[in-house]
Amino acid sequence: MDSFELNKILGAVLFTCMLTLALNITAGAVFAPPKPEKPGYEIAVPEQEAGGGAKEAAPEEAEKPIAVLLASADPKRGATAAKKCAACHTFGKGEPNRVGPNLYGVVGRAKASTPGFSYSDALKSKGGTWTFEDLSAFIANPKAFAPGTKMSYAGDRRGSDRADIIAFLNQNSDNPQPLPQAAEGAGAQQGKPAQ
Ligand code: HEC
Repeated sequence: MDSFELNKILGAVLFTCMLTLALNITAGAVFAPPKPEKPGYEIAVPEQEAGGGAKEAAPEEAEKPIAVLLASADPKRGATAAKKCAACHTFGKGEPNRVGPNLYGVVGRAKASTPGFSYSDALKSKGGTWTFEDLSAFIANPKAFAPGTKMSYAGDRRGSDRADIIAFLNQNSDNPQPLPQAAEGAGAQQGKPAQ
């Protein structure tokens, strides 16, 4: 092998090396992984709900949204279940406030709006109307829903029970809201406010 031959071989080897290097640099530029803003691994932890009480109280509540439970609610059962509310509330039209406000037409009505009842700031500052969801949350755990509320009721943790009560409350109204049906239950949102 003369030196010319050797030069060609070495040249070819060198060329290959440089080509590989060039490829490597280009590929590095094209496929560079983005640097994370914060070094280290991000671990997604679901956020804890505010109000520890509500969380402990609701292990079995995670089950079904109230819209679903309402689809199979029974206002007659609700009337019986609502006896525990009757110590403080009246449900009929024109009946007086007691320890708590009269609840006639409460579904869809503005929160803390019964005339002549002195509500807590907690409830007054809630705003909005009583939707099925809000009623359910409030009855499940009044203190968690409206910290500082005057309603000293421990809460009704059984979703089906609350659905029955809400169906009963809904009947005691000049214009009851349509209850979610079984089929639409999962997607249904809430009672629209009465006009
Ligand atoms: C120990 C008495 C007491 C019991 C029992 C009680 N409540 Fe109340 N409730 C109150 C008081 C007091 C308020 C006013 C709360 C406030 O101003 O913070 C209230 C407010 C409410 C409101 C808001 C009304 C509005 O006009 O905004 C609803 C709805 C309600 N109660 C439903 C119920 C239901 C349903 C039950 C039974 C499961 C029940 N309450 C049991 C005393 C009671």
